[in-house]
Amino acid sequence: MAATEQASDEVVIRLVDVHKAFGAQKVLQGLSFDVHRGTTLGVMGPSGTGKSVLLRHVIGLMHQDSGQVLVNGEEVSTLHRKELAAMRRHMGYLFQEGALINWLTVAENIALPLRENTKLPNAEILDLVHAKLELVGIPDAGEKLPSQISGGMKKRVGLARALVTDPEIILYDEPNAGLDPEISRAINQLMRELADRLQVTSIVVEHRVECIRAVCDEVLFLDQGRAVVQAKPADFFASDHPRLRQFLGPEAVRSTS
Ligand SMILES: Nc1ncnc2c1ncn2[C@@H]1O[C@H](COP(=O)(O)OP(=O)(O)O)[C@@H](O)[C@H]1O
Ligand SMILES: [Mg+2]
Repeated sequence: MAATEQASDEVVIRLVDVHKAFGAQKVLQGLSFDVHRGTTLGVMGPSGTGKSVLLRHVIGLMHQDSGQVLVNGEEVSTLHRKELAAMRRHMGYLFQEGALINWLTVAENIALPLRENTKLPNAEILDLVHAKLELVGIPDAGEKLPSQISGGMKKRVGLARALVTDPEIILYDEPNAGLDPEISRAINQLMRELADRLQVTSIVVEHRVECIRAVCDEVLFLDQGRAVVQAKPADFFASDHPRLRQFLGPEAVRSTS
């Protein structure tokens, strides 16, 4: 795959022996992995295993109890407000729930990362918002409220918001959930293009094998708070690891495609 050949050795995201518990509940229990520049890492794993928690650590919305979370070599948990804002200018995040603000228009929802993390003038913000509305295929939706649009459209709005700062790093939390197959394919294609054309580095949390195969250069299986398998998609889906086989089930044929 072209993106794999182009991928550099430079580590953009690195987790080292990360532990995180909520009270007595241990969620991350020694999680370690690297993501290199220009590569897309898929993360699969059972519900409630800590996939969203892991993404929240990378963007600094949550801090680990121990271990390291490094983005471009900087420990995220020690960044101060200004440094965090600077980091987030280079990072897009597609929330699992969509997380649109109901009383703001679609355009104002997409503008939020620019308003929070930059000092750009309003006219420039509106131009950037409209460019992203076009990119995700909903150029005329800007003045609508979230309650007036479908689930698939909300996902596209969330994606436009994740992309509005032209980030170097994008974290996608179940980008295909709730989408029909046609829109899923369009979104997957867009994700792949961002990696190939713009060398974006991404983590994609996703259950759909089809999406992982279409979009990811590598896949990690998160189970009981650790990365138990990390491999290229062809090897990942052919893995003999008993827990992974049990998770994927008979549907994920061990084809070499
Ligand atoms: N802020 C929080 N406070 C307490 N528990 C949390 C919090 N966030 C997540 N959890 C718990 O951590 C576990 C992992 O959650 P999550 O990362 O959302 O799972 P998933 O792998 O399905 O994305 C769940 O049991 C969840 O209830
Ligand atoms: Mg989740």
